[in-house]
Amino acid sequence: MSLSTERSEIIHHLPPDHLGRSLRADVRAGLTASPKTLPPKWFYDKLGSELFERITGLPEYYPTRAEREVLELYSAEMAAASPAETLIELGSGSSRKTPLLLNALTKTGSLRRYVAVDVSDTALLDAQSELAPAFPDLKLQAVAADFETQLHLLPRTGRRMIAFLGGTIGNLEPEARARFLADVRELLGDDGGSLLLGTDLVKSPHILVPAYADAEGVTAEFNRNVLRVLNAELGADFDVMAFEHVAVWKPQEEWIEMRLRASRPMLVRLPGVAMDVHFHEGEELRTEISAKFRPEGVVEEVETAGFAAVGQWTDRQNRYAMTLAEAV
Ligand code: SAH
Ligand code: TRP
Repeated sequence: MSLSTERSEIIHHLPPDHLGRSLRADVRAGLTASPKTLPPKWFYDKLGSELFERITGLPEYYPTRAEREVLELYSAEMAAASPAETLIELGSGSSRKTPLLLNALTKTGSLRRYVAVDVSDTALLDAQSELAPAFPDLKLQAVAADFETQLHLLPRTGRRMIAFLGGTIGNLEPEARARFLADVRELLGDDGGSLLLGTDLVKSPHILVPAYADAEGVTAEFNRNVLRVLNAELGADFDVMAFEHVAVWKPQEEWIEMRLRASRPMLVRLPGVAMDVHFHEGEELRTEISAKFRPEGVVEEVETAGFAAVGQWTDRQNRYAMTLAEAV
């Protein structure tokens, strides 16, 4: 489906029963695994996207502010090093930080088009209506698609910069991350172009853990929202508040793990997948990892995928890095 006005359009690449079929496959696999897991993309229904927006404003959640600071300080340098005709942003969410990049790329005179890609169509629609009046000379496209499986459907011509912000790459498991980077490289083909990658950096667990377990409990609500999505979409009967939010730092893997811990034994019915799932008291369901990086590790990973790192910038407190990598 494609709804378009003269300058802006939304293109739906998610199959009509995406929420059904793909969710059911993930739930079947994840809830029969040991330990139980669910993939993070199912957090982001309308409420989930709103809760994530609230997380970005929490005092404990520094990554959004740190990334904004890097863009405020260095987006002009990034744009000069890698002018582009099209900016494609993966997992764009509310696109709140994107104007910094759009302005910088506009000043180089190269930019014609912005393509926002997200699984959340409510986030895409909201972002589109914020951006349209601010950028009257740009062609705006919003693409509802899964960046893990549908990169091949994105624009394949012209000089492109692919931005992946918010530290979202850290939500992929290491193998999925390597595959993803190789797919992004493949999308760029032989036309050159670049990847601009935002990554949260390894730091003290005293700072990291509260960023994923805030005092107000917004992150806890966000985490539990995945159970609400299963209740709504699969007719499941999770007693959502009987699951406790847990965030732990895994020093070996250098990632934060978010889990939901059953506060009592439960039998959950999931008619949509014809399953009954048992949780014992204290059992933890893993809902997300958020890997933290070292600057040189990011360079290594992008270079393995066929890029050459041409620039790397951090905020003043060295909490967060942005890496610009050219397809070679
Ligand atoms: N880039 C924004 C949002 C980060 S939150 C920021 O920096 O604040 C992660 C975003 O990625 C959410 O908007 C979510 O809907 C989207 N997302 C998660 N998994 C996805 C997937 N597999 N494909 C496309 N978008 C995804
Ligand atoms: N990309 C974000 C991150 O890893 C996603 C995120 C932030 C998140 N806070 C969260 C996901 C809390 C789940 C719960 O930082």
